[in-house]
Amino acid sequence: MAITIRRATIEDLLCMQNANLNNLPENYLYKYYMYHILSWPEASFVATTTAVGNELGTELDEFEEITQNETKLSVKLDPCYVRPGEKLVGYVLAKMNDDPSQQQEEANGHITSLSVMRTYRRMGIAEKLMRQALFALCEVYQAKYVSLHVRQSNRAALHLYRDTLEFEVLNVEKSYYQDGEDAYAMRKQLVLSELEPHKFQHGELEDDLESDLLESLLHEGVDQITV
Ligand SMILES: CC(C)(COP(=O)(O)OP(=O)(O)OC[C@H]1O[C@@H](n2cnc3c(N)ncnc32)[C@H](O)[C@@H]1OP(=O)(O)O)[C@@H](O)C(=O)NCCC(=O)NCCS
Repeated sequence: MAITIRRATIEDLLCMQNANLNNLPENYLYKYYMYHILSWPEASFVATTTAVGNELGTELDEFEEITQNETKLSVKLDPCYVRPGEKLVGYVLAKMNDDPSQQQEEANGHITSLSVMRTYRRMGIAEKLMRQALFALCEVYQAKYVSLHVRQSNRAALHLYRDTLEFEVLNVEKSYYQDGEDAYAMRKQLVLSELEPHKFQHGELEDDLESDLLESLLHEGVDQITV
């Protein structure tokens, strides 16, 4: 089972809303998800698992085939599945700040929501989703900084934002949440050259053309090398 991080599309929205309902007390109307994707289609990302080979058989059980007007339709039984074989396990919902009262400010992005399904946590999925979103906000929408709110009691998210992604705490917003809990308002300056997602792919081998060439020279001799 491979995990893919890819840009979120309209087809993912029901699954994103389902993941949000499962993981967080802050929930949104479907049209608010739509608003994100239609307004900033390159800013939000999902993590999905893709079934391979004989795994696909069991994944297909999550769908039911019905025939309507002689057309075969796949009907979802499990709201985690985007399509047969592809299950959504995490998402980040991001936007640009379009508050008219802040129009004097430089362009800036906002992380509306982030969550990873419980059994897929501590695998680096949230970090990857966030890094993709930060890069996209900066590269595509020219955001100079990005902001977010996090509950004071949310240790995991606070670690992720402050320690892993190097957000700074701007201030504490009293009773920010409906249940009265305070929020940390956090912000990160965005510098495109520092955000390129490939820089954070742990354990991946990098192309080293120089030593590849040297090795070929040693093994095959100068005459055999074509450049
Ligand atoms: C917060 C959340 C998104 C993290 O997702 P995740 O995929 O498990 O996070 P990652 O594996 O990418 O972890 C990245 C870093 O986050 C921090 N972190 C994640 N889970 C943590 C935990 N339970 N305790 C402490 N730190 C944690 C660590 O700094 C970690 O880096 P490390 O593994 O190098 O130590 C996930 O726990 C979640 O969905 N929680 C419920 C929803 C939520 O709180 N969303 C955020 C709202 S602001």
